[in-house]
Amino acid sequence: MFTLASRNWACSSVLGAMTKLSLPAAIAGRRINTAAGRPKDTQPPGTAAMARRLSSVPNVAYADSVPMEAKEEIMGGVYHQIANKYDRVATICSLGMNTVWKRRFVHRMRAQPGARMLDVAGGTCEIAKHYLEYQDKVNGDCRSSVHVVDLNTGMLGVGQSRMAGTSWERDGRISFAQGNAEDLAAVADNSVDVYAISAGMHNIPRLDKALSEAFRVVKPGGTFACLEYGHVDTPVLGSIVRWYWDNGVPAVGQVFAEDRPAYERLARSVRAFPHQRDFASLIRAAGFRLPGAGYELFECGMMVAYIGTKPSA
Ligand SMILES: C[S@@+](CC[C@H](N)C(=O)[O-])C[C@H]1O[C@@H](n2cnc3c(N)ncnc32)[C@H](O)[C@@H]1O
Repeated sequence: MFTLASRNWACSSVLGAMTKLSLPAAIAGRRINTAAGRPKDTQPPGTAAMARRLSSVPNVAYADSVPMEAKEEIMGGVYHQIANKYDRVATICSLGMNTVWKRRFVHRMRAQPGARMLDVAGGTCEIAKHYLEYQDKVNGDCRSSVHVVDLNTGMLGVGQSRMAGTSWERDGRISFAQGNAEDLAAVADNSVDVYAISAGMHNIPRLDKALSEAFRVVKPGGTFACLEYGHVDTPVLGSIVRWYWDNGVPAVGQVFAEDRPAYERLARSVRAFPHQRDFASLIRAAGFRLPGAGYELFECGMMVAYIGTKPSA
């Protein structure tokens, strides 16, 4: 069952939120069919065509020439096309480093036993899986849970299939809902121990809205954890990485996902994402405390982890 709220998860006014989020029937009551190719079949009509039309726009997430509703629709559609292949292509593109980065990111959160995580833009449940593994192995905990929220039902469907049959699913420690990071109306104020978002922020047009929603839902004293592609300032290496984003990543996307435009769009949105210094300032402006510089560079900034807390008073 594709649930909005697992028995371990306290979401307020679920029915009202379902209306507000315009959840499709698949999310409201039925398990999404995640058979191979299904996400592509279920994408909203016209989305693929629109995504193709707009692949020439410098950055789908931020370009002012794209109407706000279209940005959301494009995001919802782009990932439908690649959902089944997303994890494999991410591993190839990063030469396996994605797993290392995500595990390291989860370890940096230092989550307490029993902590409830909201994994926003959680996609195929990569972070959820690493988090629950961490809780099981490092904390010896079996109460912690993850609620995965993503705009895209194709990505969520892949995640749900991956979790199907695991002890986490059997024990009700994982739940899923379609939702937008900019409007997490289904999640109660001050209800989340850990807000996590990995490789999701670069997709979001209104970062201030997403960050203020994050601040609203995290408990005082709770954790904000964001992993995002960064800007590599190291001379030479920075040029190589930028070249790789512009040329290597789209080529890998073409060969292994048969969708070059989706990976060109990814490269553009990563390039347009604020520098880590500036994004740390935005996180602080939303109210979170970030220690030190506000971020940690992974591999010179290929990825950047921002781990902060919501002040208690
Ligand atoms: C690059 S994937 C990352 C998935 C996963 N977090 C990971 O680290 O592997 C980005 C995800 O963000 C989701 N997304 C894009 N815009 C979103 C939004 N406004 N709200 C929620 N999810 C969004 C996409 O559907 C996609 O699943």
